[in-house]
Amino acid sequence: MKFPYISIFISLMSLALVSTHAALPSELYWKSKLPTTQMPKAITDLLNSTGKGKVNGTSNSGYPFFYYGYAANKSQLHDNPNVGLFFLKKDLHHGTKFNMQFTKTSKYGASFLSKQVATSIPFSSNKLKNILNHFSIKNGSYESEFVKSTITVCEMPAIKGEEKLCVTSLESMVDFAASKLGNNVEAVSTQVKNESSVLQEYVIAKGVKRLGEKNKTVVCHKVNYPYAVFYCHKTDKTKVYSVILEGVDGNRVKAVAVCHTETTQWSHNHLAFQVLNVQPGTEPVCHFFTQEHVVWISK
Ligand SMILES: *[C@@H]1O[C@H](CO)[C@@H](O)[C@H](O)[C@H]1NC(C)=O
Ligand SMILES: *[C@@H]1O[C@H](CO)[C@@H](O)[C@H](O)[C@H]1NC(C)=O
Ligand SMILES: *[C@@H]1O[C@H](CO)[C@@H](O)[C@H](O)[C@H]1NC(C)=O
Ligand SMILES: *[C@@H]1O[C@H](CO)[C@@H](O)[C@H](O)[C@H]1NC(C)=O
Ligand SMILES: *[C@@H]1O[C@H](CO)[C@@H](O)[C@H](O)[C@H]1NC(C)=O
Ligand SMILES: *[C@@H]1O[C@H](CO)[C@@H](O)[C@H](O)[C@H]1NC(C)=O
Repeated sequence: MKFPYISIFISLMSLALVSTHAALPSELYWKSKLPTTQMPKAITDLLNSTGKGKVNGTSNSGYPFFYYGYAANKSQLHDNPNVGLFFLKKDLHHGTKFNMQFTKTSKYGASFLSKQVATSIPFSSNKLKNILNHFSIKNGSYESEFVKSTITVCEMPAIKGEEKLCVTSLESMVDFAASKLGNNVEAVSTQVKNESSVLQEYVIAKGVKRLGEKNKTVVCHKVNYPYAVFYCHKTDKTKVYSVILEGVDGNRVKAVAVCHTETTQWSHNHLAFQVLNVQPGTEPVCHFFTQEHVVWISK
């Protein structure tokens, strides 16, 4: 039986290759700008990803949930995977149950482009033709719709109290976060222990932990695009928490959640208000993040 040895040998070889791989310019940039900040899994997944950038939906409506101007209509409440992510601050404690789904995402993750390459590709609604051409995407196709809606959301004005930027490289994300929060920051993302992706019940385990002390946060949401693009925004009057969620099938999720104490500027028909049945500007609204989003807090 020669075969197993050969495959073990090949595995060892590839391990050796991984461990000696030269650091990418974007990793070096991170280390020089944020020497005390560990890279969250959401980022390392995209650096090592060979993902060609499968453009596919995480939102079944025009706008994603993190866009504060997002108005959902009744029909969109059904089959919306984001519905379960919202909850009220008063429910952020041991024992609260949620129905949620943490789909495996990294496999489809579109990788980061180097900053140099990313800045050479237009990213603007009036350059759509060039963008579609560049990625050989046919106008009118399913993919072209995602490209268009991502750019549309990126070009929407920020609401009062929000500062936003869509970043097309890791370097730009680092710059945005550091410009808003300084260099002494923590970057976290939700981590799923054994990637079970079924929609099921999760319960909050003991030990809800607040991350950071300042009531401001930069969150970078991964958006659908042929390469890694994040919608980053800084919001005040937010608090970030780390909680362990235990799934009924034994899956454990170290989840990041954010609570907003100020929601008066949000669309009055925002999905969150409809799901939670509260009025804007009343009770604090919280939501969990799935694995692909990056949350920044100052230490
Ligand atoms: C990704 O690459 C980094 C170095 O760039 C390495 O430290 C890490 O182990 C790799 N992660 C995976 C999952 O291969
Ligand atoms: C996107 O995902 C849906 C199911 O979630 C699938 O039916 C569809 O074929 C996918 N489209 C592409 C372009 O991958
Ligand atoms: C809800 O929004 C969807 C997608 O934007 C649209 O197709 C549908 O007609 C709307 N339904 C109602 C009742 O407005
Ligand atoms: C794509 O097709 C639509 C409808 O035919 C047209 O209005 C639009 O200008 C086209 N966009 C590009 C970038 O070619
Ligand atoms: C997740 O891991 C736990 C403990 O290792 C195991 O009991 C459970 O069956 C796993 N669940 C899935 C869906 O793989
Ligand atoms: C954070 O918000 C709380 C009220 O929720 C307030 O008491 C506290 O002073 C704020 N802290 C900072 C650093 O602004």
